[in-house]
Amino acid sequence: MAVIPVALSGRGYDVHVARGLLEQAGDLAAPFLRKEHVPVVADANAWAMHGRRLEAGLAATGRTAAVYEVAPGENSKSWEGLASLVDWLLAHGVERGDHVLALGGGVVGDLTGFACAILKRGCGFVQLPTTLLAQVDSSVGGKTAINTAAGKNLVGAFHQPSLVLADLATLETLPARELRAGYAEVLKYGVLGDAEFCTWLAEFGSDALALRENPLERAVAHCVAMKAAIVAEDERETTGRRALLNLGHTFGHALEAETGFSDRLLHGEAVALGMVLAARYSERIGLVGIDDAAAVTRAVDAAGLPSEIAALGLDCDGRRLADHMLHDKKMDAGTLPFVLLRGIGDAFLAKNVDLADIAAFLDEELRAH
Ligand code: GLY
Repeated sequence: MAVIPVALSGRGYDVHVARGLLEQAGDLAAPFLRKEHVPVVADANAWAMHGRRLEAGLAATGRTAAVYEVAPGENSKSWEGLASLVDWLLAHGVERGDHVLALGGGVVGDLTGFACAILKRGCGFVQLPTTLLAQVDSSVGGKTAINTAAGKNLVGAFHQPSLVLADLATLETLPARELRAGYAEVLKYGVLGDAEFCTWLAEFGSDALALRENPLERAVAHCVAMKAAIVAEDERETTGRRALLNLGHTFGHALEAETGFSDRLLHGEAVALGMVLAARYSERIGLVGIDDAAAVTRAVDAAGLPSEIAALGLDCDGRRLADHMLHDKKMDAGTLPFVLLRGIGDAFLAKNVDLADIAAFLDEELRAH
């Protein structure tokens, strides 16, 4: 088992990465569980697949679960979803010193984390992420949020969990497409900050994707360690360091908006394409060589992720995609920071990118290849 500390003064916690952690959840979370009856907020699918193992883990230390099931999908991250969860937590007598367990992917983690941030001005929670994306990214670092009519993740809080248990066995029941989409975030860590990890992924990434235990644990633990270091340095995304985790997300957000945030393009797929576009745009403006941009495309292709926007068959031009970016929540005083590359493993935040040039670049990409 890998145990990665997130070093935040007064709010530090451990992230455990291994197979079979749900069966040990009662033991591992024991310091945080004051009562016999433990509130568990669970994605309905995740509960159907893994609830028994979690119940067994709690039963091993004499505890039972009170379960609140969340309908799968982004729609649950709403004001209504938040209100009904908070009411349920209140009805179950959850107090400020208690901890709520969150079993599921990013939706459940974000929703539960935000509910816990505001419940009685803040109670504790433990993340039990069941998707690759949640294990390597969203369950670590304390970003919590819901969506509103104005956009995704626009209302939320920084609220760190007290513990994260990333049980690799949960990935075995994920649809292959969702697993691959989560792998885009794994690639992201290498491309943004660790060329050696990119080299390792070129050799062993397919084994990790095939869920071979050692490479999978190594890949997830490595990403978590990178995220932990970034969060420890820039918890609230004020210095620009944490913003590097948005590599591929600005281009990706425009593509997700254009495809209606639908199954046509999963978030991770949009991030993969967005990373390729960030690399190619970096090449266009002379920041990286053609070899580095091609290497990003190759890594994305090798994982079976989309690397060409022309293949999406979008009925739009570059200007329209660039316009979607203006609604990105990362807009700051009228400018939109882009994460670009100086090389593989060397991302930086570019603050003066010309959106008209981005639109022209996207026009070429929409026609190309
Ligand atoms: N998912 C990006 C972040 O946690 O900052």
